[in-house]
Amino acid sequence: MRKLKFQKTKLLSALIVLTAVFIAAAAKAQTKVWVAPAIARAVKNPVVSTPIILKEAKTLYITNCAPCHGEKGKGDGPAAASLTPKPADHTSAALHNETDGALFWKMSEGRTPMPQYKKILTETQRWELIDYIRSLSKKK
Ligand code: HEC
Repeated sequence: MRKLKFQKTKLLSALIVLTAVFIAAAAKAQTKVWVAPAIARAVKNPVVSTPIILKEAKTLYITNCAPCHGEKGKGDGPAAASLTPKPADHTSAALHNETDGALFWKMSEGRTPMPQYKKILTETQRWELIDYIRSLSKKK
């Protein structure tokens, strides 16, 4: 009986160590560059950017994205300070070099702390937001 108890404790501590290793590995993986799959990068944006679309998307952006990404998309929203990794700067050159398809995929899939927007916004809303993000860097 005593022996069994000892083994259980051992098993439990082994499990705890394993979990810690796993979490550490996951945290490390998170710092890696976030790359969308080739098939997603190649997808074209079906929503043509017009002033009306951009106005609609701005409302969506201010409500859903600005708390982290900031009202101007600089990655400096009120929640940004407490987040790791930091919210992307939507006006950056790195983002400018990404295809619409890649950005759409990232936004749809999410990555902690960013939510999975395919569960929150419709496909059209997500493409509209990509148009909006593009307009942010053009204004610079
Ligand atoms: C809770 C905070 C949070 C919210 C809300 C949020 N994001 Fe993010 N977003 C992030 C973080 C953090 C990253 C960087 C993730 C990483 O690199 O692992 C990111 C990255 C991105 C990227 C990838 C940028 C790149 O350089 O490839 C896109 C696109 C994006 N967000 C769009 C949006 C849009 C659009 C919304 C609103 C619908 C939104 N995000 C809402 C935190 C957030």
